[in-house]
Amino acid sequence: MGTWQIRKEEILHKVIDEGLRKGYRFIDTAQVYGNEAAIGRILGYLLPQHNLKREDIWITSKLAPANAGAAAARKSIEDSLKHLQVDYIDLLLIHWPGSSLKSENPKNKILREESWKIMGEMMKEGKLKSIGVSNFEISHLEELKKVSNVVPAVEYHPHFHQDDLVKYCNDNNIHFQAYSSLGSPTYREKLSKEPVIIKLAEKYGVSVPVILLGFAYCQGISILPRTTNPEHVVCNYEVTKRSISENDISLMLALKVEHKTCWDPRLVV
Ligand SMILES: NC(=O)c1ccc[n+]([C@@H]2O[C@H](COP(=O)([O-])OP(=O)(O)OC[C@H]3O[C@@H](n4cnc5c(N)ncnc54)[C@H](OP(=O)(O)O)[C@@H]3O)[C@@H](O)[C@H]2O)c1
Repeated sequence: MGTWQIRKEEILHKVIDEGLRKGYRFIDTAQVYGNEAAIGRILGYLLPQHNLKREDIWITSKLAPANAGAAAARKSIEDSLKHLQVDYIDLLLIHWPGSSLKSENPKNKILREESWKIMGEMMKEGKLKSIGVSNFEISHLEELKKVSNVVPAVEYHPHFHQDDLVKYCNDNNIHFQAYSSLGSPTYREKLSKEPVIIKLAEKYGVSVPVILLGFAYCQGISILPRTTNPEHVVCNYEVTKRSISENDISLMLALKVEHKTCWDPRLVV
């Protein structure tokens, strides 16, 4: 369950409540989303209501670019733990290969290495169960090649999929996770009007969002759809019960137009 841009506690409460009821067990947040504290309060209330324990759910959060570097990373992760009201975070990702410095500044590399080292230490301390990266390119991943357990999360939908990055992750035993599978609010309409997608939704007798989510999910790529609408929470869960043929996945792969809706890490040195 994605939570970017959902700050209103009442809405978060509604969708997380419906999600837990339906079977969602993974919540994605980030320091920059400004909703970790609300999610902490909501889970504190809702988990017992749904007869669930902390260990029944998976929380991913992300280190903000502004908190890159040894001291800021540690302090901000300690703050995330407090806000989320947890003893540990299941997965902490470096949100972005850059920092608050300009993309071309070579100090970005030093700062992300410092962050990575601190995250490794906090993993040994038991405060982070696993660590990973998000929005990294192959060049950034190559720097971390000797370190295992790297989990990139990148934009992935029929109009934007980095097949070389997916292959690199598969070859290096790195779990790959997709975000903005529905095209985010800014590109959702355009993606949903793609004739091939509409035809596939008709063919499988499901909604267009289920096909868009299935594009990643049916290739073994995990997903995190975001919605403010409890009915959409239920609709999107349908993807877990469907499969899409390899042939139809190929039809969607062929739609690639290199349209990225979110931030683009290719310029970060
Ligand atoms: N690591 C990163 O840098 C990064 C970057 C981007 C995103 N993410 C994560 O990935 C999550 C998902 O990506 P995203 O937020 O860009 O957007 P998304 O999940 O691709 O799309 C969200 C949009 O789809 C609509 N929607 C959802 N289900 C629907 C349904 N069944 N029918 C119709 N409309 C539906 C939502 O509107 P309604 O509210 O009306 O349903 C919302 O406008 C984020 O929330 C965040 O947690 C991570």
